[in-house]
Amino acid sequence: METQKKRVFSGIQPTGTFTLGNYIGAVRNWPLLQDEYDCIYCVVDQHAITVKQTPAELRKKTYESAAMLLATGIDPKKSMMFVQSHVPQHTQLSWVLSCNAQYGELGRMTQFKDKSAKHADNINTGLFTYPVLMAADILLYNADLVPVGADQKQHVELARNIAQRFNNTYSETFVLPEPFIPKIGARVMSLQEPKKKMSKSDTNEKSFIVLTDTPDVIVKKIKSAVTDSEGVVKYDVENKAGISNLMGIYSVMTGKDFEEIEKEFEGQGYGVFKTAVAESIIDTIKPIQDEYARLLNDKAYIEDVLREGAQKAQYQANKILSKVYRKVGFAQF
Ligand code: TRP
Repeated sequence: METQKKRVFSGIQPTGTFTLGNYIGAVRNWPLLQDEYDCIYCVVDQHAITVKQTPAELRKKTYESAAMLLATGIDPKKSMMFVQSHVPQHTQLSWVLSCNAQYGELGRMTQFKDKSAKHADNINTGLFTYPVLMAADILLYNADLVPVGADQKQHVELARNIAQRFNNTYSETFVLPEPFIPKIGARVMSLQEPKKKMSKSDTNEKSFIVLTDTPDVIVKKIKSAVTDSEGVVKYDVENKAGISNLMGIYSVMTGKDFEEIEKEFEGQGYGVFKTAVAESIIDTIKPIQDEYARLLNDKAYIEDVLREGAQKAQYQANKILSKVYRKVGFAQF
């Protein structure tokens, strides 16, 4: 008997081109899941406007992000891929869920606290209810697994709590989702301040690598990455955060474990190690860059993929949304 595949849902903000951190911590794993799971991937443009955006830029970056997802290996024949604002059911469910989420629990979200400190002039209510919209993204498709970087674990747990609460109040409706976090590379750190997460919003461009960086730029950024004065390639996050971060990157790029890497560079300085790290990144992302450049010249194809994705998503989403509307007592339309 054929058992039904488990469902995976994940979303990524349309930042255009992803950082190496987005790639290693999340996106890289997405194509790998396509055969074993029933996958749904979403470019979350509605989440993006919780911080200020330039409209024309946001639109452009939405297409670029979709192109980048396709370039990293997402196959629209296997997975559903669409843009969040093309499927209105997300915000519709979000409203119902927000009435089942507590002010206090949203206030405890680490990302809300961080982002409101960073954007003190724009603490809008969307920033506050952001995790509820994210819960709607996930619950609307009854996803079992949510592949995310470590920083999103708290949001997935909140989605699970909201789902459980809704089920208890209105009877069994939602599947309880679980975060799915890669063992290595869940958190790629800044190249300049290795105790901080790698982020594209960092003002120091040398602190992050984006997937569209040229080989020269990648070499420069890796060469100037902050390390320590010990000169020994050894995994020790506490005392050697910079080297450990580079080892994490190298490990994911080459498939070698930390022990192998320590042996490989025994008795050699950081210069040799850094050259190898930069090369491993360049080799891995070259085919992605080529495919990305090709896709950007074929906007009609991207639009087709997104239109078809949104149609399929709407069909699925309507099933759960109408169930939810019935359960909470909305009169039939
Ligand atoms: N909040 C996620 C991030 O910033 C993006 C996201 C939105 C997401 N909706 C989602 C991730 C649903 C997983 C599932 O990275």
